[in-house]
Amino acid sequence: MSIAPHGGKLVNREAPPEARADLVAKAAALPSVTLGERESSDLELLAVGALSPLEGFMGRADYERVVGEMRLASGLVWSIPVTLSASRAEAAALAEGRDVALRDRATGAVRGLLHLEEKYEYDKKREAREVYRTEETAHPAVGFLMGEAGDVLLGGKVTLLARAAVPPDEAPHRRDPAQTRAYFAEKGWRTVVAFQTRNPIHRAHEYLTKVALEICDGLMIHPIVGYTKGDDIPAPVRLRCYVALLERYYPAERTLLSLLPAAMRYGGPREAIFHATMRKNYGCTHFIVGRDHAGVGSYYGTYDAQRIFDGFAPDEIGITPLMFEHSFWCKRCGSMASSKTCPHAAADRVALSGTKVRELLRAGEMPPPEFSRPEVAQILIDSMKETA
Ligand code: ADX
Repeated sequence: MSIAPHGGKLVNREAPPEARADLVAKAAALPSVTLGERESSDLELLAVGALSPLEGFMGRADYERVVGEMRLASGLVWSIPVTLSASRAEAAALAEGRDVALRDRATGAVRGLLHLEEKYEYDKKREAREVYRTEETAHPAVGFLMGEAGDVLLGGKVTLLARAAVPPDEAPHRRDPAQTRAYFAEKGWRTVVAFQTRNPIHRAHEYLTKVALEICDGLMIHPIVGYTKGDDIPAPVRLRCYVALLERYYPAERTLLSLLPAAMRYGGPREAIFHATMRKNYGCTHFIVGRDHAGVGSYYGTYDAQRIFDGFAPDEIGITPLMFEHSFWCKRCGSMASSKTCPHAAADRVALSGTKVRELLRAGEMPPPEFSRPEVAQILIDSMKETA
């Protein structure tokens, strides 16, 4: 028996293939809104059920309660607003109760329809404080909110008419929630742990996933390939790293690599809940939360993203978080460990900052094998040479 989607039912808001051309043609006559990068990702996630039970961009009642209480108007746990914004001038031209065409920013093509139910003003500073715990625009999501995001939110169900083009390398690794669910069922995995990442997988990440795999039937490596901030490693390079690593170091029969076309918010604790509920929709029963999950800068405490789960009853979230302490290689243990399992001093541990690793890679130098598998490091060195 597979795990129920969040809210009980897997949403499907993608127009059937035979209806699409007609709907796109009709949409040409509708007023339109251009989707930002994150909104474009959210449209697809909504349509494939990754954000079940949401069927569209949030209306005011859901939005307000999510920001204030981490719940939808129905009371179901939901931690991050999923919204579509427009400028006041754009919104003035749109009528509630009518359809709006959603256009791709790069191509101008119609990607979907918004069945506009309501347009409403919102308090950006409150969202920043409550959701991201800061009003500083150096935080990527707050910067977006205060900068690019319009002053009016448009709520209503969506219909997806055309997915964004998928790079050829990514295509074999893209699976919708219905497909990952079918995959797990076919494999007979009763428990599946999901691993969220926006980075290449280094030894600490590998350790978490393998410890988790010791107690679960299957592992889904589920990296985010939508928006990530400029200094994160680009998705195409990471994909090469994931494939190389999985080929050599993971059991193929128990591991699935699947790419998640979601945008990072860098919302730390709130995003950990959001990430977990999304993976529940993909059919996973367990979800890894390590140190500073989905964090950025020093906006969140190292274990805030773990503590936030304590505020909810386990059945309200419905996917089991597997929490991990900061992990590292210990020279005296001769293995990966964390402060839960290793009694030795900091001096015995291989600890490298992200900045230090980037410096090494840029200089064409291998970080120690205790930090990163050499095959992964080599791909990163090569990609840095290509872009230098
Ligand atoms: S994240 O933004 O996707 O969280 P990252 O890709 O670095 O960033 O992390 C993926 C997962 O691994 C997160 O759950 C994070 O908390 C965890 N993690 C990363 N590095 C470590 C580490 N050294 N020790 C423990 N957990 C870690």
